[in-house]
Amino acid sequence: MKKIVISLGGSILVRGEDDSGYLRALRELLTSFPGEYRFIIITGGGPTAREYIAHGRDLGSDEATLDWIGIAASRLNAWLVISAIGPSCYPRPAEDIEEALSASSSFRFVVGGGTHPGHTTDTVSALIAERWKASAFLNLTAVPGAFTDDPTVNEEATRIDRMTSSRLLKLVSGTDKGAGSHSVMDPLAANILHRARLPTYILHGRDLGSVASCMRGEPFQGTVIEPDGG
Ligand code: UTP
Repeated sequence: MKKIVISLGGSILVRGEDDSGYLRALRELLTSFPGEYRFIIITGGGPTAREYIAHGRDLGSDEATLDWIGIAASRLNAWLVISAIGPSCYPRPAEDIEEALSASSSFRFVVGGGTHPGHTTDTVSALIAERWKASAFLNLTAVPGAFTDDPTVNEEATRIDRMTSSRLLKLVSGTDKGAGSHSVMDPLAANILHRARLPTYILHGRDLGSVASCMRGEPFQGTVIEPDGG
């Protein structure tokens, strides 16, 4: 059995660019894989989370409350993916890791969002991948891989096609941890993927050609993270 965990960034799902067309195409792609492929998909909160967190912060909410706002936004996005996939999907967002794992024994597709304050949906996905002993962890983001710097602000930034999990850990460590903070991967998630030695791939979530190639073990546009002990 091939167990694929997908961390689907909220900024990929809802970006005001034919979002329902994208979700239909994603369903076509995922359901075209043979039955031995099983998926757990964890959705991020994206711009909805950031907008609501900004309002809450303005109103003086504490960070934990802001995290719950982010979790609610990620679950809202999970409902969209469940709607897109249809009857082969567990019919509600899994609210914690145990629910996701137990639902995956009866359903080919399980979708969830955030679980508890203090981390991001990348961490939820990484913890699920570790417990499930996933064959692959795909981090679908708004940039086509891990770069030397943020490519949306630094045009000199170059993609790193292949790196070790300890290098990824160094690249993301020290990034901001406040509610709604943003980097290619939450450092906690990178740490879990490293310790669990999980084959990890970072790619643009709207580039479904690359997503398909990656899941088939073929060359794709993105970054391969190779587990190492360093
Ligand atoms: P995301 O996982 O969406 O963060 O969670 P992100 O890095 O902004 O990812 P993209 O843009 O969707 O790719 C949004 C916020 O929700 C809270 C955190 O505050 C996080 O920054 N959150 C999410 C939690 O507190 N716990 C969770 O399990 C998930």
